[in-house]
Amino acid sequence: MEVKISPSMLASDFANLQSELDKCKNGGADLIHLDVMDGHFVPNISMGIPVIAALKKVCSVPFDVHLMISDPYRYVDEFVKAGADIISFHVECDSDIEKTIDSIINAGCKAALAVKPNTPIESVYPYLDKLSMVLVMTVEPGFGGQSFMESTMPKITALRKKCPDIDIQVDGGINADTVKIAGRAGANVFVAGSAVFNSTDPAKTICTLKENAKL
Ligand code: DX5
Ligand code: ZN
Repeated sequence: MEVKISPSMLASDFANLQSELDKCKNGGADLIHLDVMDGHFVPNISMGIPVIAALKKVCSVPFDVHLMISDPYRYVDEFVKAGADIISFHVECDSDIEKTIDSIINAGCKAALAVKPNTPIESVYPYLDKLSMVLVMTVEPGFGGQSFMESTMPKITALRKKCPDIDIQVDGGINADTVKIAGRAGANVFVAGSAVFNSTDPAKTICTLKENAKL
């Protein structure tokens, strides 16, 4: 499987988003991870549609938009219009899952389903045919800078066994060490916020993550 690194802008300097995006691009980031929170599905509020639309104008790396919101169905078209290339939403949300996936795909975007650490991976199985990616959260969604939960790894192993070709993304607490654990379990798309943006050399960190994911 191709290894992809998706730096999470949540950990970037919000006063300098354009230069932070440039660092990701120059470091060889494969995707840009944008965390959208509504203060309802998760106890935090981050960025939204206008910010993503503005960033899209200055960045050519594909946008991987992670919706931590209660009613993703309602906003699909707006996020696609803003520039999302992949939209992940949570299987635990209030929207109709099938309808939301169909609406993402019909809008010309790739659809992904995310599961919180305590949600069984089987919850995504009915939708696998339509999904480009499954996001297995390795922390409770809502905040950056938390510790990687290794207890989520069996879900990745099970999904990789069932679907040898699907993109499996991990998000939360990914660094130069934990990327190896998730990679060995079968993940191939790695979100990293603090590891990239708290590093003195983000480009080098992206490179290290990519190499270590295969170790
Ligand atoms: C958490 C977000 C993550 C977060 C990861 O709810 O979904 O994408 O930015 O941050 P780190 O890599 O610092 O754990
Ligand atoms: Zn995320």
